[in-house]
Amino acid sequence: MLKSKVITASQLGQVIQRLAQDLNRDLVDKDPVFVGVLKGSVYFFTALTQLLSRSVVVDFIQVSSYGASTSSSGTVTLVKDLTVDIAGKDVYVVEDIVDTGLTLVDVLALIAARHPRSLKVVALLSKPSRRQKEVPLDFVGLEIPDVFVVGFGLDFAEQFRNLPEIWEFSPQGEGGHEARLEDHRHK
Ligand code: IMP
Ligand code: MG
Repeated sequence: MLKSKVITASQLGQVIQRLAQDLNRDLVDKDPVFVGVLKGSVYFFTALTQLLSRSVVVDFIQVSSYGASTSSSGTVTLVKDLTVDIAGKDVYVVEDIVDTGLTLVDVLALIAARHPRSLKVVALLSKPSRRQKEVPLDFVGLEIPDVFVVGFGLDFAEQFRNLPEIWEFSPQGEGGHEARLEDHRHK
């Protein structure tokens, strides 16, 4: 069930504005390709890229995880590849949340193999206390404690991505797993 709203839509807006300002400074002299990791990053990705003060190439990649028990390399399989050539480009990988870091390590390896000129990571949320793999996060929106969150792209079993804010979620409790957005979103 949705427990409580932990980041409001207006807080998300402020965080994304700050990230865009930092990115705008970083983008000077770059040949940028913004790569969103599907599906979780989509809401963040569109909000962020619209605030950039110059044209950037956008693309998407989708991977599926074999689960955290698998060893570091080969934990993910490529579901949807990039469609643009990133060789020699300045790539910014945009992630919704970095938890253990296992997914991102593999995504970065996939992308690095295409020889970008530079490779940076933008993450809306990070749970540092859960990290198993060191991953360099160049731009981070907010660090959060070890709680499971949904909304603004983040899902539980593919539900709740379309909530406009971030909620703490517990799979237990009355209300079950149903996507009762209307019961909750105006609280
Ligand atoms: P990692 O490989 O453990 O860093 O996890 C990365 C992926 O796990 C993210 O891209 C999310 O899809 C998912 N994930 C991790 N924590 C959460 C959460 O709190 N809510 C929803 N999805 C999460
Ligand atoms: Mg997910």
